[in-house]
Amino acid sequence: MRTPIPTPLPEPAALRIWDLPTRLFHAALALCLIGAVITVKLGGAWMDWHVRLGITTLCLIVFRVIWGFIGPRYARFSQFVVSPARTLAYFRSPDKRAGHNPLGAWSVLGMLIVVGWQGFTGLFANDDILTQGPFAARVSQAVSERLTGLHQFNENFLYALVGLHLAAILFYTLKGQRLMMPMVHGDVARDALPAVCPPAQDDWRVRGLALVLALLIGTLAWWLIGLALNAPGTFN
Ligand code: HEM
Ligand code: HEM
Repeated sequence: MRTPIPTPLPEPAALRIWDLPTRLFHAALALCLIGAVITVKLGGAWMDWHVRLGITTLCLIVFRVIWGFIGPRYARFSQFVVSPARTLAYFRSPDKRAGHNPLGAWSVLGMLIVVGWQGFTGLFANDDILTQGPFAARVSQAVSERLTGLHQFNENFLYALVGLHLAAILFYTLKGQRLMMPMVHGDVARDALPAVCPPAQDDWRVRGLALVLALLIGTLAWWLIGLALNAPGTFN
């Protein structure tokens, strides 16, 4: 009797590239950052919400930085951060990449730094009326005012980088690259990926690790928000 020749398993039509924690981080970051800007523009009683959303935004950045070291393959800095020389080489002859391309990688780093700086300076900011960051009273008035000035000035960089981010996504979408939906459901079509491309790990172990990290950082956020909203000189 002849032994049947084993048929190769069919290739999956799409591969998991963005793990759930990275996707949730992205959605939460966009929502909190937009919320922080809207509430500061509304002012008055909304400033308490600026503090809550601002601190949450900062803590999301802390989460993402740690996730960049311990998260799965395509979330790792070591996977997507490349030298300027390799970025130029990519521009000269773009190839298929899984995860962030070199331009995306630089914009991710830029956003993490600029948004992180906005949140950090906010910790020491005050509006001379009712609102102050949790550590504003721990530094001299001059330092708090200086950092408040930097907090306000950084607004320009924030809009520029988010604007560039959205423009780049639109540009690639118009060129036919499907970037948007993968950041929602996590999967990238096989034909948009290189021939050899291991999928990202996105199972209960990865999600459990992210949950533990989120709970730890969430506790930090809770403490910072409590400090800011109950700071002396804040009338709540
Ligand atoms: C305030 C708003 C936003 C901020 C601060 C922001 C920030 C970021 C960050 C930090 C990343 C890197 C993700 C990671 O590796 O962790 C990212 C990626 C991405 N974002 Fe946003 N985002 C914003 C809004 C949006 C919106 C509205 C869209 C959809 C139109 C979008 C689409 C994407 C896509 C498609 C990627 C993946 C890009 C790639 O494949 O390299 N973002 N964004
Ligand atoms: C990363 C998220 C944050 C964003 C996007 C953000 C954005 C802004 C912007 C754009 C302004 C200037 C508003 C204007 O002059 O019209 C501002 C002011 C202010 N922010 Fe934030 N902020 C963030 C985090 C924080 C944090 C964490 C705190 C404190 C806990 C804070 C406290 C303040 C205060 C007290 C002011 C008023 C300063 C003044 O104009 O007198 N912010 N913020």
